[in-house]
Amino acid sequence: MDEKSSYNYRVVRQFAVMTVVWGVVGMLVGVIIAAQLIWPELGFNTPWLGYGRLRPLHTNAVIFAFGGCALFATSYYVVQRTCHVRLFAPALAEFTFWGWTAVIVLAAITLPLGITSGKEYAELEWPIDILITLVWVSYAIVFFGTLALRKTPHIYVANWFFGAFILTVAVLHLVNSAAVPVSFWKSYSAYSGVQDAMVQWWYGHNAVGFFLTAGFLGMMYYFIPKQAGRPVYSYRLSVVHFWALIFTYMWAGPHHLHYTALPDWTQSLGMIFSLILLAPSWGGMINGIMTLSGAWHKLRTDPILKFLIVSLSFYGMSTFEGPMMSIKTVNALSHYTDWTIGHVHSGALGWVGLVSMGSIYYLIPRLFGRPEMHSIKLITLHFWLATVGIVLYIAAMWIAGVMQGLMWRAVGSDGTLTYTFVEGVKATYPFYVIRLLGGILYFAGMLVMAWNVFKTIAAGSPSDARIPMPAHA
Ligand code: HEM
Ligand code: HEM
Repeated sequence: MDEKSSYNYRVVRQFAVMTVVWGVVGMLVGVIIAAQLIWPELGFNTPWLGYGRLRPLHTNAVIFAFGGCALFATSYYVVQRTCHVRLFAPALAEFTFWGWTAVIVLAAITLPLGITSGKEYAELEWPIDILITLVWVSYAIVFFGTLALRKTPHIYVANWFFGAFILTVAVLHLVNSAAVPVSFWKSYSAYSGVQDAMVQWWYGHNAVGFFLTAGFLGMMYYFIPKQAGRPVYSYRLSVVHFWALIFTYMWAGPHHLHYTALPDWTQSLGMIFSLILLAPSWGGMINGIMTLSGAWHKLRTDPILKFLIVSLSFYGMSTFEGPMMSIKTVNALSHYTDWTIGHVHSGALGWVGLVSMGSIYYLIPRLFGRPEMHSIKLITLHFWLATVGIVLYIAAMWIAGVMQGLMWRAVGSDGTLTYTFVEGVKATYPFYVIRLLGGILYFAGMLVMAWNVFKTIAAGSPSDARIPMPAHA
């Protein structure tokens, strides 16, 4: 078959494989820092092995390397398949792969060295930020160029979500990373004081909303109907879901800055928009889950569908929990505690992790010319390891978080604190052990996936995966 008449799977393959590789790396670092919180000696008095440096390495690796590669792979696949054309500008698409890989490698070198801008989820220093900008603009050209060339009359809703994710992340990155360089590896933010904090959390929350949510909703809208063999439950709901979600997310950032120097009305505005956000989030979840109407029985036997549907349950849970935590009086208890870490990981492990894994399991055999994954049993094993791991992780953090919040605020009749801070830390230890156990299970699941993917690839051939594009008049 002529290469030009088939879809461009090369770059999809590259990103799909690296999703698994970076997933293993990022989660391994997660397990290490979870262990360091129990045994601080594991930093070996070596600066680049210290918790403070490995923690941002973990967050960057799981969000931008694991999550980012999953987003690139799925968006490049979905946009071609739903537009019936090859990717626009294939050389630029290839550049996005190598450019993004370079960003990840540079992050893995600079963060342990302590080179950081100090802004959470935007730690990378200005030269790397410029490279990110170049990669992202190329990504936008490839994605929107492909949309423009489409042979189909309308733009399938998954592409709306991928498109919003690409555009918004570009704006967020440009605005939040504006900085004045003082040397090659050091810069200072262009903003100061509370404005800096406000810009940072406008970025931070929309990174959740667009990097960790909108793009993954794109996956949901393509892979759930495909795997279930059913059309999306309601196309109309998906359009309402889209506009409501992207409009509302933009305003919710101040819930990260409750009880700070940020003007009080801004905090209340953030809280109100966070509460409103529950509606579009659940609208989307319901649309995904209801897509299974008439095909529920498939859940019993299809582990890929299990990944995709359970991810939506965690999405629903974390988007219920988030609005609750944004209520100021609740946040007064939860902020600074491990409850936040529990919330983060119910979204990250439960939603982002499971939906990515389900989508990659769908993709790998198709990309490498195999009828199915090497072992379906191993997918089921992965599913259970991951699910039990998540439950242990988040339940431990919820209990620890509420306990910490209550201990910190407890006062005796004379107004003095009932507990010292160290007593709170000591009481948390057992929960850190349970979290580590949950993390090890989740990580073990990822290793099982890596093995299964390796065996599938080894048995297949990319040339067998060429799919002709539908002919158009
Ligand atoms: C084996 C799996 C994982 C383990 C054991 C793990 C462990 C940890 C630990 C110990 C922390 C630091 C908590 C603290 O400072 O108290 C952390 C932070 C974080 N992790 Fe993970 N993690 C895992 C997977 C993931 C994944 C897959 C994602 C995202 C897709 C993720 C996103 C984050 C984020 C965003 C933070 C920072 C949270 C905050 O600042 O509030 N993690 N993780
Ligand atoms: C309706 C949706 C959501 C709302 C309203 C929401 C709200 C919140 C609130 C109030 C906090 C605590 C802020 C603090 O006390 O510092 C928080 C933290 C966080 N949430 Fe959510 N959340 C939502 C969904 C999600 C989802 C789906 C994910 C992940 C995929 C996520 C990831 C995070 C992260 C990473 C943080 C920690 C930020 C940090 O301090 O480093 N959230 N969220």
